[in-house]
Amino acid sequence: MRNDLNFNIRGDSGPDEALREVLPLYDENQELKRTILNLKTELNKFSSLPLVVCTVDKILDNKAIIRLKNGHSLYVHIAKELEGKIEANDVVLTEQKSFTIISKVEKEKLFNVEDYVVIEKPKISWKDIGGLKKQIQEIKEVIELPMTKPELFKKLGVKPHKGLLLYGLPGTGKTLVAKAAAASTNSTFIELVGSELVQKYIGEGAKLVKDLFKLARERAPAIIFIDELDSISGQRTDDSTSGEREVQRTFMQLLAEIDGFEDLENVKIIGATNRIDIIDPAILRPGRLDRVVEMELPDKKSRTEIFKIHIAGMKLAEFSLDKYIEKTKGLTGAEIKSICTEAGYSAIRRNAESIEESDFEYALNKLCCNLEDCEEHNDSRNLMFG
Ligand SMILES: Nc1ncnc2c1ncn2[C@@H]1O[C@H](COP(=O)(O)OP(=O)(O)O)[C@@H](O)[C@H]1O
Ligand SMILES: [Mg+2]
Repeated sequence: MRNDLNFNIRGDSGPDEALREVLPLYDENQELKRTILNLKTELNKFSSLPLVVCTVDKILDNKAIIRLKNGHSLYVHIAKELEGKIEANDVVLTEQKSFTIISKVEKEKLFNVEDYVVIEKPKISWKDIGGLKKQIQEIKEVIELPMTKPELFKKLGVKPHKGLLLYGLPGTGKTLVAKAAAASTNSTFIELVGSELVQKYIGEGAKLVKDLFKLARERAPAIIFIDELDSISGQRTDDSTSGEREVQRTFMQLLAEIDGFEDLENVKIIGATNRIDIIDPAILRPGRLDRVVEMELPDKKSRTEIFKIHIAGMKLAEFSLDKYIEKTKGLTGAEIKSICTEAGYSAIRRNAESIEESDFEYALNKLCCNLEDCEEHNDSRNLMFG
């Protein structure tokens, strides 16, 4: 009432009018307060110290022994609200100075299998592969046929293989044929590298393997390609360090997944290795990767085909490649490809109109010098071919 009177005395037109003027100001004020609060929070982020990510080794008397990435172990406090909620193998965040555990990281978020595999729909056709006729035939039988014509197997009650193992020197085309198999069956190609699994995901290898198979089922038809399989299925040694036990757990999980999944599920597994000598035979037992395919070095006919594939589309001068097909005896498909590419570069450097024989001469010499320098290369060759 009194307000009404005041407004009237001052000649304003009434309380409604006044409210209309004040309300927007009030809203604006609130908005500004919110902005200030947001900015303060953002500023706090800049001034606060980052937290340390560690793994819990053991809980002891309401405190914890944690392991840092650099291998150091520390005996630390746990924040009150987390007491009783932390256990061994948890990934936690600790404060920087006292290393007190102040938060737990959800493993699902930290170790999402999709972050650790390569997923693609390759476009490589069988025609892009020189030689390897026998190998391609086997792969077609084990991988392609059951996926494209499952009824043939059902009709005769034949259980198809779940997958196969490819072995051969680096560069003999293992990844290439696995991708071609995925392309020909229109499958999702999911690639996991064994050595990376072992090095990076300590403690989580088994979970990642489990999630890998789940992912493959979701994306079926799919081909799981496990490269460097030997790093997770290398034969067990007696001295079992914790890292080695972890690798064994991962391997056991892999066997369990292969055993556990039904045939005709539209998921196939291709393993690859260049160390067949150390592969644990458990993975080769019937019902597992029981077809073993050797990726041989290309013979003369195959080398001719590989050259043809890699010079297709290149502008070559008139000369015969026979000499180079002969001279590349003992080299892999990848090495032949690299000779073609290097010859191309040599011609570009000369600013030439076409690639000449001298460019191939140069490329071959360059590659051979590199090979002689490469001890690792020779070691793996000797291991395989004695
Ligand atoms: N038989 C082949 N025919 C055509 N190209 C080949 C052949 N073998 C290897 N290559 C070439 O070498 C590259 C590397 O081969 P890759 O499949 O990765 O070998 P691996 O997996 O055995 O180490 C391929 O992408 C391809 O360009
Ligand atoms: Mg490979």
